Amino acid sequence: MDVLSAIKKRSSCRDFKNDQIKKEDLDILIEAALASPTAINLQDLKINVIQDRNLIDDISQECFRLMDENVKKRMQDRNAENIFYNAPTIFILTSPKTVYSDLNAGIVAQSLCLASEHLGLSSCIIGMVAPAFDETNPKNLKSRLDMEENEYFCVSVAVGYANSKKLPHDFDRNQIKEFY
Ligand SMILES: Cc1cc2nc3c(=O)[nH]c(=O)nc-3n(C[C@H](O)[C@H](O)[C@H](O)COP(=O)(O)O)c2cc1C
Repeated sequence: MDVLSAIKKRSSCRDFKNDQIKKEDLDILIEAALASPTAINLQDLKINVIQDRNLIDDISQECFRLMDENVKKRMQDRNAENIFYNAPTIFILTSPKTVYSDLNAGIVAQSLCLASEHLGLSSCIIGMVAPAFDETNPKNLKSRLDMEENEYFCVSVAVGYANSKKLPHDFDRNQIKEFY
C-alpha cells in the first residue's frame, strides 16, 4: 500500500480479534519503528514489544483500577474490557524524559500504525496506559518492563486484526491556516 493511502485509510481499531499477528509482520513493524527519526538521532526510545497475555492483562487491570468513573463508563460503552481492546500485540514506547521524548514516541507510534495498515493489520494508539507506569503510583509496573529509574511511559500502540473498525475521522479544514 502506498504511504498516502495508508495515512488516509488508517483509523483507530477498538475491537480486535484474538488471532496473533504473523512473525514476519511483527519483524516488519519492528523495522518500521526503528526506521523512525529521533531528535539528533539519539534513538533513546525503548520499544517494548509485548505478546505475553498475562503481562498485557496485568497492565490493563492496573489501568482499570486507576481509571476514573467517567472513563470507565466510556470503556463500558465501547464494550471494552481491556485497555488494549483485546489486541494480541502491544508496543509500549518508553524513554528517558527529554524535551523531544514524547514527539519521538509519537513519530514511532504513527510509523507502527501506518506499517500495520500496509500489512492489513489494524492499530490503536493508546495513551491512557500512562498511570500504570507513573512513579507516583506505588503499584506502578515499571519493574515488569525492566524500566530504568529515569525511563517513563510515552505512549503505546495496540496492533492486531480488526473484528470491527470505525471509519477514518472527518477532516476539519479550519485547522489549516494559509499564508501564500
Ligand atoms: C496521543 C494519542 C493518545 C490516544 N490515546 C487513546 C486511548 O488511550 N484510548 C483510545 O481508545 N484511543 C486513543 N487514541 C486514539 C484517538 O482517540 C483517535 O486517534 C481519534 O479519536 C481519531 O480517530 P482515528 O484514529 O480513527 O482517526 C489516542 C490517540 C493519540 C494520537
